Amino acid sequence: MDSEKNLSKPRNSFTSSIGFVLAAAGSAVGLGNIWRFPYLAAKDGGGIFLFIYLILAVTFGFAMLITEVAIGRKTQESPLTAYKKLNSKWSFLGFFSFIVPFIIYPYYCVIGGWVMKYMFTYLAFLGEVTTEEGFFTGFITSQWQPILYTVIFALCCFIIVYKGVERGIERYSKILMPILFLIVVFIAIYSLTLKHTDADGVTRTGLQGASIYFIPNFKGLTFSKLLYIIVDALGQLFYSLSISMGIMVAYGSYMKKENNLGKSVNQIEIFDTGIAILAGMMIIPAVFAFSGTDGMSAGPGLIFITLPKVFLSLGKFGTFIGLIFFVMVMFAAITSAVSILEAIVSSMIDRLHWSRKKAVLVMSSVAFVISIVVCLGYNKFYFEYNLPNGAVAQILDIFDYVSNNILMPVVGLLTCLLIGWVVKPKTIVDEITRNGEHFARKTLYIIMIKFLCPVLLFVILLASFGIFR
Ligand code: PFF
Repeated sequence: MDSEKNLSKPRNSFTSSIGFVLAAAGSAVGLGNIWRFPYLAAKDGGGIFLFIYLILAVTFGFAMLITEVAIGRKTQESPLTAYKKLNSKWSFLGFFSFIVPFIIYPYYCVIGGWVMKYMFTYLAFLGEVTTEEGFFTGFITSQWQPILYTVIFALCCFIIVYKGVERGIERYSKILMPILFLIVVFIAIYSLTLKHTDADGVTRTGLQGASIYFIPNFKGLTFSKLLYIIVDALGQLFYSLSISMGIMVAYGSYMKKENNLGKSVNQIEIFDTGIAILAGMMIIPAVFAFSGTDGMSAGPGLIFITLPKVFLSLGKFGTFIGLIFFVMVMFAAITSAVSILEAIVSSMIDRLHWSRKKAVLVMSSVAFVISIVVCLGYNKFYFEYNLPNGAVAQILDIFDYVSNNILMPVVGLLTCLLIGWVVKPKTIVDEITRNGEHFARKTLYIIMIKFLCPVLLFVILLASFGIFR
């Protein structure tokens, strides 16, 4: 019954090019931009990291992103089914690119739940409590609270994806992304104006922090350190553009055939990289003014522990900044989580011919059960596991490691082999230029996808095993 209904319907699509760009940028702009990019830039020599990141973005990032969007648009299929359509022997790659979002979504909802908790706490004018010693750990290790907030977050994603591509994903992205942009710009400007004198009488300013961020620091730069910086930038870029998560194939399949694919991909990259750079301008000067470079960390520690302390020290206005900051993080997290849920849902619709409603209901329920297990990883199911990259992990970190560090580079590598050597880059080039568009980076693209991208992805994979530690 479902299958008949589904087959008779035309495929969903984004109504406009800007709708597609904002939805894809919504996916790309996520926690990676906010909690990892600024930290890496501060750690990896400021301007040196930025420069390397930008070069990789217009070469490696561009080639990988345009490939996935073009695969989606050409096949008009979900990640699970698209690769088979390109080559019947490669359906296993579809399975891998379906498994990645399936692993990521449940734990991303848990992190989204943490953001919810902070946002509500600031909304209730209780921002101060988030700076109390042990607040964050106390919250994530409690039994019910993280599950409750995960439900709220997952429900938001559920509603948006349930409403569909046009009335859900596109409409919300068009509202949330411009607001997110404005908030980031506002906080970044404010951050630059900060000045703080600590207990030892040392005064530091936001502008000094900004110079650490932008000016290349060549002190102590050796060849091997440069290699580490390149590996950091590569991994960050790969994650930041939502590559190998099935997302861009799914979104590409909703892109109208008459839209300019190359131009849209450029715009997504500009948006994602722009927000990452602005996030650095927002976070590095603020953290520097209050605690020097030692205060910089990556991940949950930065946004849930360090930044609330910075907000508190700014008095009443700081609580307001804290509130709009967490609203902005929430928007970034929701638009990313929605994209990953859509990658899962579209796969079920195309493979099993389920209706959208059934696919969203079933897959959200399954994911929710896994989210509960992830939450309890800090409580009932607590254990410590040493990952090959040296990190001590709980359930959430293991999911994160398996998907980001192993499966995603493997999916990326296999995609390059399929496109570069089996179906040939011409397939993608033809899709990009199908309306007679000019493809300025065509030769670069072919070289990248055949030779350089596979090598760089292999480097990312090696780094995951701690080879470059
Ligand atoms: N591009 C996202 C980021 O930088 O945070 C990565 C992402 C993670 C996308 C999780 C979607 C998702 F569910």
